Amino acid sequence: MEHHQNTAHPFDVLIIGSGGAGLTLALSLPEHYQIAILAKSSVHDASTYFAQGGVAAVLDQQDSHQLHVQDTMIAGGQLCHLNAVQFTVEGGQEAVDFLLKQGVQFTLDEDNQLHLTREGGHSQRRIIHAADATGQAISTTLVQRVKEKNNIHIFENYVAIDVITSDKIGLTDQKQRALGVYALNQCNNEVETFLAPFTALACGGAMKAYLYTSNPDIATGDGIAMAWRAGCRVANMEFNQFHPTCLYHPQARSFLITEAMRGEGAHLRLPDGERFMLRFDERAELAPRDVVARAIDFEMKRLGLRHVWLDITHQSETFIKSHFPTLYTRLLELGIDITKDKIPVVPAAHYTCGGVVVDQFSQTDVQGLYAIGETSCTGLHGANRMASNSLLECFVYGMSAAKHIQRHYAQQSRLPAVPHWDASEVEDSDEDVVILQNWDELRTCMWNYVGIVRTTKRLERALHRIEMLKSEIDAYYQNYKVSKNLIELRNLVLVSEMIVRCALQRKESRGLHYTLDYPETAHELRDTVLSPDQFHVTQPKVNVA
Ligand code: FAD
Ligand code: SIN
Repeated sequence: MEHHQNTAHPFDVLIIGSGGAGLTLALSLPEHYQIAILAKSSVHDASTYFAQGGVAAVLDQQDSHQLHVQDTMIAGGQLCHLNAVQFTVEGGQEAVDFLLKQGVQFTLDEDNQLHLTREGGHSQRRIIHAADATGQAISTTLVQRVKEKNNIHIFENYVAIDVITSDKIGLTDQKQRALGVYALNQCNNEVETFLAPFTALACGGAMKAYLYTSNPDIATGDGIAMAWRAGCRVANMEFNQFHPTCLYHPQARSFLITEAMRGEGAHLRLPDGERFMLRFDERAELAPRDVVARAIDFEMKRLGLRHVWLDITHQSETFIKSHFPTLYTRLLELGIDITKDKIPVVPAAHYTCGGVVVDQFSQTDVQGLYAIGETSCTGLHGANRMASNSLLECFVYGMSAAKHIQRHYAQQSRLPAVPHWDASEVEDSDEDVVILQNWDELRTCMWNYVGIVRTTKRLERALHRIEMLKSEIDAYYQNYKVSKNLIELRNLVLVSEMIVRCALQRKESRGLHYTLDYPETAHELRDTVLSPDQFHVTQPKVNVA
């Protein structure tokens, strides 16, 4: 068997992903470490860059950690792990200090203090933001800081394929340990080897599994799939968050209308003008996302609508333009003047609440392998993530992983020799149309059968189709040279299977998982934990690691 003598890159820390989680980890490590950050496409092409609303943190005199914890637990259907919630909430101030130190320019109020906005589920104003383009401000600033460091090396257009583990290279006498990753260099289509004693998967979520999504194209669950194949547990994948208000417009795929607009008074209306949320929940438009998305879905199905309306026209023009300058400009380009016109909106898949099981230091089940940000399941989000808690989690756990790596840096043992990627037995694909066909089929199936409202029958249908697609895609993967599309599809079909298997195991409705067959919420709190050696495991709610 021929082994290609391709490039091997040794580093101290290897970070897969250039979103909020990956950048925070890189910037929190000492400057004498050699660090690599891999990004699938451009360094900014990440959910982080597109975040609008902001970052939740307790900063107001009226607010308290206890209230933030309580709001998070309620939004999460009480399935959140209390210690993870406390840890994250208490880390809020340090996260904000970190961002300010890096130079992120947040919006200030008249007293020159950080302006705090509101979003669904929050009982207090506690969201710091940079107008309505918070992610862009964070991403550009952190990337700038990273580029100023000589020890951090960015590899754009590299797609990590799999984690290299001691097991996989035949070192079965040792404890399972991560040694780095194989990654496809899209500039020359060669697979290169990246080696490091510490590898962090900060690859974002998996909501490209759905036909309609607010997520950028990178969100194909690569981190979750890679961790699973490396031997890590994955939990609570049935909880996929549908954001209630994505723009319904033929020329604007994936365009989110921030929840902060409802936080600043926007109303949801039916075509006859009725403010229908008042019928569903006393918190109306500011109920947690699962409640609002389900109500919209219900009304759209009841009345046969393609969308509902979001209306902020009762606020002054000055107010709207100063709070939502990006949305104002973008929607005006599409012919919608939000100071005068209502906005057509629909729910779309937005956030992966489940993920790779980690502890408070972002450690997975495999030594030397970390998962941070949307890729991970820390226990913070439970059955439904509260708005703006996600970026907070990226920063808190990114910093926490950095502390853990520093503590263990000196004890690392030498890395063994690792074979290069073997492409000797595969050929160039002659039918890429197979990949496109399977990609469309998978995302349509997930949208139709595994959406906002579920039934066991639909989930079983979905599982049957996904299993067929998976075997076809696996066969394709074994026989043809890897490409970005193929790597992503292989991951997406695996993660979709996890979503459906978790959903089938949950015999109740809670948070984002709503099934007509089990509409009640069970008394007992259980995480759905999948383990690579047995696909079916449920566990009482515990600290997952
Ligand atoms: P991401 O920011 O998604 O970054 C993932 C990175 O991993 C990318 O660099 C990507 O290239 C890389 N990657 C993935 N796979 C591979 C691979 N195989 N090889 C190499 N690189 C790979 N949350 C909030 O808290 N507040 C908000 O206001 C908010 N608004 C949002 C608005 C939108 C439109 C969206 C989509 C999400 C929003 N969220 C918000 C959620 C939040 O933005 C994300 O959960 C968070 O940014 C995830 O950060 P991350 O670092 O985990 O991943
Ligand atoms: C938004 O701005 O509505 C998104 C906030 C989030 O996903 O946390």
